[in-house]
Amino acid sequence: MTRTIPCTIWPRLREDYEETRTLHLRELFREQPERALKMAIEACGILLEYSKNRITLKTMDLLLGLAQSGGLQEVVDRMFTGEKINVTESRPVLHVALRNRSNEPIYVDGQDVMPEVNRVLQKMATFSEQVRSGQWKGFTGKRIRNVINIGIGGSDLGPQMAYEALKPYSDRNLAVRFVSNVDGAHLSEAIRDLDAAETLFIVASKRFTTPETMTNAASARRWLLKALGGEALAAAPESEEAKKIVARHFVAVSTQRDLVERFGIDAENMFEFWDWVGGRYSLPSAIGLPVMIAIGPENFFSMLDGMHEMDQHFRHTPFEKNIPVILALLGIWYINFFGAETHAILPYSQNLSRFAAYFQQADMESNGKSRTLDGQPVEWKTGPVVWGEPGTNGEHAFYQLLYQGTRLIPADFIGFAKCHESHALEDLSGLCELPGTHHDRLMANFITQTENLAFGKTETDVEEWLEAKAGGKPIDRSVIPHRVLDGNRPTNTILAERLDPETLGKLIALYEHKIFVQGIIWGINSFDQMGVEWSKEVAQGILKEVRSEAEPELKHDSSTNQLIRWYRQHR
Ligand code: F6P
Repeated sequence: MTRTIPCTIWPRLREDYEETRTLHLRELFREQPERALKMAIEACGILLEYSKNRITLKTMDLLLGLAQSGGLQEVVDRMFTGEKINVTESRPVLHVALRNRSNEPIYVDGQDVMPEVNRVLQKMATFSEQVRSGQWKGFTGKRIRNVINIGIGGSDLGPQMAYEALKPYSDRNLAVRFVSNVDGAHLSEAIRDLDAAETLFIVASKRFTTPETMTNAASARRWLLKALGGEALAAAPESEEAKKIVARHFVAVSTQRDLVERFGIDAENMFEFWDWVGGRYSLPSAIGLPVMIAIGPENFFSMLDGMHEMDQHFRHTPFEKNIPVILALLGIWYINFFGAETHAILPYSQNLSRFAAYFQQADMESNGKSRTLDGQPVEWKTGPVVWGEPGTNGEHAFYQLLYQGTRLIPADFIGFAKCHESHALEDLSGLCELPGTHHDRLMANFITQTENLAFGKTETDVEEWLEAKAGGKPIDRSVIPHRVLDGNRPTNTILAERLDPETLGKLIALYEHKIFVQGIIWGINSFDQMGVEWSKEVAQGILKEVRSEAEPELKHDSSTNQLIRWYRQHR
């Protein structure tokens, strides 16, 4: 890391880091008791509280200067107006058009994309209502009770996350499942207890060539045809008879009409999206179909409304009050100056159990890059390892390392003032050792973590605590250093009233734009994923080698050759 991002603010940030890096949050709060008021933003019904970060007001000014100096606003505007900012693939980046609830035209190559966006949304809504009402029947005339989404990466993680998040809004008579892994265990487990006559498959793939998805789709089709038409039909999926069955049980979400038809899915049952929608940003497109079927069009549109509101906030709010920009800058502070390698996303909501996994892809596939836009090696750190699990479970698993480990792990804590009515179990006061409801306890833990991580426990705190517990008896002093919490562990707190469709939409757009801002400042293309694409090609060659009848002539390195031989012998 010898060179720096070419920007005059960078050396000043470096100086600021040298001056402030040893400051403890205890001192920062002592010196600026009002910092919590200054370092909080409330917008779109979301509170971002970022005072428990290792920054001074001067640091924040410098970081904002970094955002101003890099032409950020210009690139943001270029994204929203459909310019081809995905330079390596020469494409616009227009997930914002998918939830452009204002309907103002957005042009790609001189063509307004909004009529097509709205047409597909309407088609999705009509189909969702047909499935939900029972009007859409399977081949034997039974109504659909099971929906299985077959897709991977962006064609899986987003809808799966949103379905889990919005389960309380879903039709509980429909079982919605997600199959992604090419490991046959995934599909087998998903279908083992289902009646094929009541099952609808959504094959979701932007390219419709993704090996995992096409493998699972072919096996699902075989299972369906065998159950509804017998072995002979299962072996002849191209036959007219088979197509009639497939037409009632398979729909596709893709950009590739020809390939969808070649698979045997009626083009009428295809929901399009476009190459200007990145896979990991595609939830608000037809990729969201399983979510719309589960929660209904109205709730799905509320999610889009929430996304649009955050899009507008991001596009039009000055950087110092702009939630995605502030989160992006804080991330850069820790990655590029403190050398933080990872970033934790810790939602205090069981319904957000897939939220970190979703943003793991969005962030790591977007900003896991080491070339600048013009193809030069970057000489600064880019995207972090993103990970996380919901609280309170994480507390009993990995928080120990957050508290007392040797690494600095910045973390976002996400919480809600209210739980969904259907999750509000009875108040347990008087019935159990601790007072309050489940939600009060959850949120007490939530607030405790950021306080403890920031301020820790000093030796004196520990000593007093031990003495109070001992009730006059002598205390074991040797444990004191083990109980000390150094603190000074930075966190952001993100709070909203309730996890409803609109709020989920806002949170999704917030993180998407954070990732985008970081990519712009690092000078990388956040919208391609050429590294993973390469491995798909290689895997196809190796598949031929592991399956060849004759001993293949292996031309890999000695390790890979050995692994292929071992697998061939033991398979
Ligand atoms: O894993 C790489 C990737 O290209 C992701 O970007 C994408 O979300 C996923 O594969 C699935 O792609 P598709 O929707 O084309 O099947």
